[in-house]
Amino acid sequence: MRVTVRSFAKINLGLSIGSLRPDGFHDLRTVYQTIALHDIISVQVNRGNGIEIRCDDPRVPTDATNTCYRIAERAIDALRVRGRIVITIEKRLPVQGGLGAGSANAVAALIGLETALKKKLPGTERLRIAAEVGSDLPLFLAGGTVLGVGHGEEVYPLPDLPATACVVATPDIGVSTPQAFADWDGMIAKGTAEGERPHVDRADHGVKWTPQAPSDRMLEIGRALSAWLSGQPLSGVPVSKGRGRAETSLLDLVRTGIENDFERVVFPKYPELRKVKSVLEGSGAFYASLSGSGSALYGLFRSRATAAKAVARLRRAGVPAQATTTMTRQQYWKKFLVSSS
Ligand code: C5P
Repeated sequence: MRVTVRSFAKINLGLSIGSLRPDGFHDLRTVYQTIALHDIISVQVNRGNGIEIRCDDPRVPTDATNTCYRIAERAIDALRVRGRIVITIEKRLPVQGGLGAGSANAVAALIGLETALKKKLPGTERLRIAAEVGSDLPLFLAGGTVLGVGHGEEVYPLPDLPATACVVATPDIGVSTPQAFADWDGMIAKGTAEGERPHVDRADHGVKWTPQAPSDRMLEIGRALSAWLSGQPLSGVPVSKGRGRAETSLLDLVRTGIENDFERVVFPKYPELRKVKSVLEGSGAFYASLSGSGSALYGLFRSRATAAKAVARLRRAGVPAQATTTMTRQQYWKKFLVSSS
């Protein structure tokens, strides 16, 4: 059986970096949003043993370090199955672009594999395996608008934001995420020495996901985010006592403004990326930002027509860019499967 699925990318609507934890990860607070740009992943299970990764793009490793390999290895172990697994990656998304492509590929491979084997892992097991492979994987098990805390792997599906026109610029620069975190630590150490920005101290461990309906509070904040996307200021987020931790995280993110902390270390290193953000803003984006640690940037637009003009303007400036849209959870799952035969 051959199963083909779409591996959708994500952008980050704000990303706040907290302290460096004893396990080597940083506390994070972010809102992930899936978008329609995607890679294509095919999974085939044949007789025999082993995992084979095929990809024409020389930047993608096809050995045991590939995220698809790493998740397939864990999945066949947990599912207690045998077979020769062939995973083919058709690359369209940038590598090291901050769009979560490698992470999305792994989740797509996991779901493709389960479909091909007609076997499913329990939800908690899926989340555990996904988080083991990388911080950005669990969000793709939810899709749509997702709050990420912990080191990004603790995910809370949020009420979906409306599908919004989006432009993704993909400058030909690969940014190493571990390096960007190290640069952040360097900046904080220097800043603390100079008496600047106090460090947030949190320590979250383990994979958590509240699949049940979000609380009234989360719905309220989610609605505030939606309103922000439709042009209203974010200031109307009300206060109430007795909030849960996820709610507090989301509220903090909304209150401090939807900003990506990585811009503070990535832009000084790659000034051309700051210029791309300015072009997006100058082309009518109501919000523009680096995605993750970059180098991809995105702009959100009120109309597809304005988004199309922004794409043309970026391309004229020599920056690869594509128009797309944000994807609700329902759209994400509806479009996930391409074929199974
Ligand atoms: O989990 P993932 O494989 O994406 O992380 C890659 C590296 O990025 C980690 O080994 C760590 O150095 C860094 N990282 C971090 N804090 C996070 C996520 C990643 O320091 N929240």
